[in-house]
Amino acid sequence: MKTINHKYLDQLFEAGMLIQNQLIRSTLAPDEQKQPITLSLREAAEAIGMSHTHLQNKIKSGAVKCSNDETGKACFSIADLIEARNALGIEVGRSKHPGQRGIRLGIMNQKGGAGKTTSTLNTAHGLARRGLRVLMVDADPQYTLTIATGMRPDLEESDAETEAQKELLVETHQTLVGAFIYENHELADDPDFKDWNIRKAIRHTNWPNVDLVPANGELAHLEVVIALAQRENSEWRFDLAVRNALAEISDEYDVILIDTPPNLGTFAMSLVSACDALVIPMQPNAYDYQSTVQYLNLLSFLTENTGKEFAWIRMLITRDNAGQTATMFRGMILAAFPDAAMESTLKESEAVKKESLQLHSVFESTGYAGNSRTLKQAQKMVDDIALEIIDLCERTWASKQLDVIDRVERSKVA
Ligand SMILES: Nc1ncnc2c1ncn2[C@@H]1O[C@H](COP(=O)(O)OP(=O)(O)O)[C@@H](O)[C@H]1O
Ligand SMILES: [Mg+2]
Repeated sequence: MKTINHKYLDQLFEAGMLIQNQLIRSTLAPDEQKQPITLSLREAAEAIGMSHTHLQNKIKSGAVKCSNDETGKACFSIADLIEARNALGIEVGRSKHPGQRGIRLGIMNQKGGAGKTTSTLNTAHGLARRGLRVLMVDADPQYTLTIATGMRPDLEESDAETEAQKELLVETHQTLVGAFIYENHELADDPDFKDWNIRKAIRHTNWPNVDLVPANGELAHLEVVIALAQRENSEWRFDLAVRNALAEISDEYDVILIDTPPNLGTFAMSLVSACDALVIPMQPNAYDYQSTVQYLNLLSFLTENTGKEFAWIRMLITRDNAGQTATMFRGMILAAFPDAAMESTLKESEAVKKESLQLHSVFESTGYAGNSRTLKQAQKMVDDIALEIIDLCERTWASKQLDVIDRVERSKVA
């Protein structure tokens, strides 16, 4: 038998990409962007937190404007929903806490498949539906979250023929890599990276109150970039690169959700430093449990050595189900972390799975091919998670914990 070399691996990579592109194209045409979503009157009332007759009366009186769907029925775009809250004087998120900045929330676990990306996308839309301004940051070189927003980090510029296609490309300066181009880096004078600012990377999505810092495969090189930078200039604080980049726009979002790679290397360490709070998704099974406990050990070691402080940390049980194993491990997780486990869980759901194949969160369904009750249950479950996170954020803003976290970080730099 022949031995395997890089040529063979390259062929495997090319063959894999070909099929991946076909899969994405079967969902979205090559230059098609994800479309904005609309909510029915009933869904809008629920998202605003009022009865449906109350909202109906507000529309009748002209206090609230809505749109009409193709059959002429009242419906709400997310933009209509934002306007309706403004018109009704309903404050959400940071607007209730003047002077407080956005919370940087890391969705982290070293375990792949724990549900990090699914939790990030669905929670982002859950928070946005409740009126918060959200920035999603894809910090995983596997860029699953970026693909889920309809962007195409897998495509080269030469693959993009139309203007619409070009808009979906993700160049390296449009990712977090820009935050790591230090003084003597070979790209330091490249016009794309010179005076780089996180705003160069922020993209709008099909939700008016959800933006994205996309990822591409180049993020995988950051471990090497960081090692080389440290050799050249040991003073350079790679661990603060993401924190400093995100600090620039902390006043523009309520929550910045960071989807992270499944490891705790130097790049991931800089992500931990950037976070004010952590959600640790884990499946209720032996492998995830063991892996998460080890991850906590690593986090403890890291924070001991860097002096990092968080406002809060919560385990989120994902793919939860009524089976024996899940029930046992759910019990163990709640017993081990009584104050650090979220009350709501992301249950195993056909709707979550089916919608993710369509690059959708559960709030983006377009004609769900299944029992509509399953979809409704999934939406309720994600809404519960979003509400629990909003409550934690509210408490963080009210207690001004972010001021403490920032003071600790500043004292380290000084
Ligand atoms: N609640 C859920 N119900 C059904 N499938 C899920 C659920 N959560 C995640 N999945 C599926 O599990 C797989 C891994 O999830 P993912 O979010 O990509 O994990 P990670 O980002 O931690 O690697 C994906 O195929 C996803 O569709
Ligand atoms: Mg992921």
